[in-house]
This record gives sequence, structure tokens and C-alpha cells, in this order.
Amino acid sequence: MSPKILITGANGQIGRVLTEALRQKFGRENVLATDITKIEDNEPFEFLDILNSQRLYEIVEDHNITQIYHLAAILSASGEWNPLKTWNINLNGLLTVLELVREKKLDKVFFPSTIAVFGNTTPRVETPQDVPLLPSTVYGMSKSSGELWCLYYYNKFGVDVRSLRYPGIIGWQSLPAGGTTDYAVEIYHAALKNKHYECFLNADTRLPMMYMDDAIKATIDLMEADGNRLTVRYGYNLAAMSFSPEEIFQEIKKHIPEFTIDYKPDFRENIARSWTESIDDRVARKDWDWNPGFNLKTMSEDMLHHLKIVFSQEK
Ligand code: SER
Repeated sequence: MSPKILITGANGQIGRVLTEALRQKFGRENVLATDITKIEDNEPFEFLDILNSQRLYEIVEDHNITQIYHLAAILSASGEWNPLKTWNINLNGLLTVLELVREKKLDKVFFPSTIAVFGNTTPRVETPQDVPLLPSTVYGMSKSSGELWCLYYYNKFGVDVRSLRYPGIIGWQSLPAGGTTDYAVEIYHAALKNKHYECFLNADTRLPMMYMDDAIKATIDLMEADGNRLTVRYGYNLAAMSFSPEEIFQEIKKHIPEFTIDYKPDFRENIARSWTESIDDRVARKDWDWNPGFNLKTMSEDMLHHLKIVFSQEK
């Protein structure tokens, strides 16, 4: 029998694409999108403020939900403008979901963690799975605490919680909002539309990144994996590629020779510098056969191909 899935934050950058992928796999009627905002053609959909636990319980009962993908959160850069609100939404939102999954004995829950859990005391290159975590942002603090709560609910109550530390995610289908890695999506849009991009990070700030297709594959593969094989119930390290703004710029320039870039780093540069450059994801590869499909070259080809189609339809 198909699972009955609820997604929180379904209108976010990852949520939009994940909702569609899960509907393709399990059938539209089995995947309920929820968010505080609504986009068209996203049925079945319910409005949900993640801090409204009563409404969440009602929705789960009304729709006989068996699994939750809990994506609703405020990202690293916008989180810094309102730290207490970010903590409240990111951490208390998760606790509401974990408590519900425990009480209602749901089958599984997915929690997205992030490279933002790393900090200045973390080894920067090929960052291992288990390392010191002293995150520099309230977003990173909420996600590293969230990882601990996930592990706690797994150990203490047997909640089947699964989690990934996403790198920066890049896709043509949706725009990110309020993150530090957003530049790596914006740069493709700017290259096609303006032939110029002003980058808010320095030229040489390298970060771990991943194409949306790989992020979606990783998420669904982890949720579908045999639970007995999983040795990590906080966040699995996950890697595909690492690059700096200058490296992605040079790659795009191969397709658009007239493309130019300026560097005007702002507060997001400090956030990026506190994260790591590259990730050792051997545990994910071993436990559930994770293997990324895209690198900087193939991602750039695919991004530009799809965005050109999207932009030509806008005109
Ligand atoms: N992409 C996120 C951000 O930049 C990191 O998880 O905030």
C-alpha cells in the first residue's frame, strides 16, 4: 500500500520539486503539500503554520498521514535578521513534528539538516561525518540541535527519523530564499538575463554544492532505504561537488562568453567562511548506496538548457 505523505514547507526551494517527485512516485492523491503560502496547481494542499500544532494534528488525522517530510524552516542569511523567530520556527517546528510522529506512531519522518551545522572548529576539507559542531548562525544552531533531537527521538522512542546534511542546492525549477548558497542559483539567471552578476561572496569562497536532481534522489532513496542498514539517525553527510564563485563563473562563461561578474561580499561571506569546503560522505555511500550523478559541468549544461526554455516561455 502506498504511504500517505505530508510535506511541510512544500512551497520552498526543495519542497516544490520534492512534492512533484513524490507525486510521480506515489500518486498525486497520496502526497499532501502544506505551507503558509499557496502556489497554484499544487493540490492536494492545506495551509499550515508549523507552529500551529493543533492544525497539524487535524490535518494528519483527516488525511490518514503515515510519513512526514518536514522541510519548513528559515535559512541561514534571513535567519540572522530575526534570531528568536528563526529558532522558534526551526526548532519548535521540528519538536512539534517529532512529538506528533511519536504520539500518532507514524511510520517515518524526514528532517533536512545542512552544512550550516559546521563551524570554525570543524575540519574544512573532506569534513568527516562526526566532527566538532560550533555553528555560527542561528539557522545552524537550530539544525545541529535539531539533529540531536532526531537522534534522541530515535533512541528513546524508536521514531524512524532520517536526515541529510544538504549542501547548497541548485535547481532551475525554483528559487531559494534567504540562504547563503543562493548565489549559485542566481548566477545562472543573471548570466542568461543580464549577462552580468554581482556576487555577495568572494571569488575564492568554496562551498559544497549539489544539483537538485541529486538532492531529490538522495532524499527519497534515504527514506526508502532499509532502516536496518542506517547507522546515522542525526544528519548524514552528503556530497556531490565543491566550487567557488569564480569556478562556477568560468564554467558558465564557456556557454555565455560575454558574461561578466563583480564581487561585493556582504555579511553572507562570513557565514560561508564558517562552513566547510568539501564533505566526506562515505557513510551515506556505504549505508544506503548514495552516489551523485551531476558535477559542475553537467549541472551547468542542464541548468542553462532548462532555464532557457523557462525564460523563452515567459516572453
Ligand atoms: N542553502 C542553505 C543556506 O544557504 C544551507 O543549508 O542557508
